[in-house]
Amino acid sequence: MTYLDNQSSTPIHPEVLKLVTQVMQDNFANPHSQHSGGQQAIHSIDKARRIITEYLGIEFSELIFTSGATESNNIAIQGVILQALQTQEQIEIITTPIEHSSVIETIKALQIAYPEKITIKIIPIDETGIVKVQDIQALLTENTILVSIIHANNEIGTIQPIRDIGRMLKKYNPESVYPLFHSDGAQAIWSEDINLHYANLDLYSISGHKMYAPKGIGALFIKKDTPIQAITYGGGQEYAMRPGTLNTPLIAGLGEAFRLLIIPEHKESLKRVRALRDNLLDKLLQLEGISLNGDRENRLPQNINIASLHKSSDSLVIAADLAGLAISAGSACHSGATQESYVIQAISPPESDYATHSIRISLSQYTSKEEIEEAYTIIKSLI
Ligand SMILES: Cc1ncc(COP(=O)(O)O)c(C=O)c1O
Repeated sequence: MTYLDNQSSTPIHPEVLKLVTQVMQDNFANPHSQHSGGQQAIHSIDKARRIITEYLGIEFSELIFTSGATESNNIAIQGVILQALQTQEQIEIITTPIEHSSVIETIKALQIAYPEKITIKIIPIDETGIVKVQDIQALLTENTILVSIIHANNEIGTIQPIRDIGRMLKKYNPESVYPLFHSDGAQAIWSEDINLHYANLDLYSISGHKMYAPKGIGALFIKKDTPIQAITYGGGQEYAMRPGTLNTPLIAGLGEAFRLLIIPEHKESLKRVRALRDNLLDKLLQLEGISLNGDRENRLPQNINIASLHKSSDSLVIAADLAGLAISAGSACHSGATQESYVIQAISPPESDYATHSIRISLSQYTSKEEIEEAYTIIKSLI
């Protein structure tokens, strides 16, 4: 099987696996216990927290561990909105039509719960799949408490101008703590260098299984003094923002996955992945009836998302699987259901059927030239 569905989930890096296994065996004590076993476990967690916070340019106490980006997005969005409702009569949330469902559905659920108090404003987006800073600026009012913009899209891989947006938001209302700026960084963190403070972010969500760490582990950056409430209650762990016994082995694994981002081989991997991706994309675009979804330049190096005039997404994904190639139709988070892609729908002409005729091909740092050739042969034969 040629696996080109790495934006759904990456394999685990061998060094990450080694550390997770070792910590699972050796550091099984509760990290919140006072005895030396507990101290060893908390030491592993502290080490991971130090690596990650140094990488992101944030303070040690500005990161909480979660079960993944879904939970991080929920804590960030629900926590900020519920807190704002305590002090504001009317609140507005600005977001894009191409967010992950864990952002869109969370915002919608709160709007349904507080219909008189919450307004959602959607930033217009064109076929590039990239938002414009001036379009966000045009939506801001003194009631805007949160702007949530995905850093890199999970389907089309387009990368948003997070630093420019952060700079504009910071200047908007310097006297007020609002608007806060959240970004879902689940897909971006493996390839995009980002210093969260320089980017003027207040909240940033991370997922382990998009960056060669296991599933079920993630993190959330919460800038110091951000007005936010906890949404679950318990033993006070993670500064009372995410109570529950910490998962020592998976946290150690996430730390290791971040450490691997600063070794020189990482830059080489990125270059290699981009070159392989470009090679496959150039060839696919020469096939009759194929077009690229989203901007070509500002996109993740591992991402291809193409529309096919003649074949539906589902038929392509199933036929590719039978031929030994794993790809996906949009986002795997909806797997099982045959749905049209709201992301592709948002960026394509209304009369087109791209939303039901697109596939995502996503490479990993382990993808070989031979696998790319194999993938091309299979897709060409299917199309
Ligand atoms: C952009 C984005 N956000 C959030 C998530 C959810 O992450 P997790 O599986 O860690 O909950 C995903 C997973 O596909 C994603 O791609």
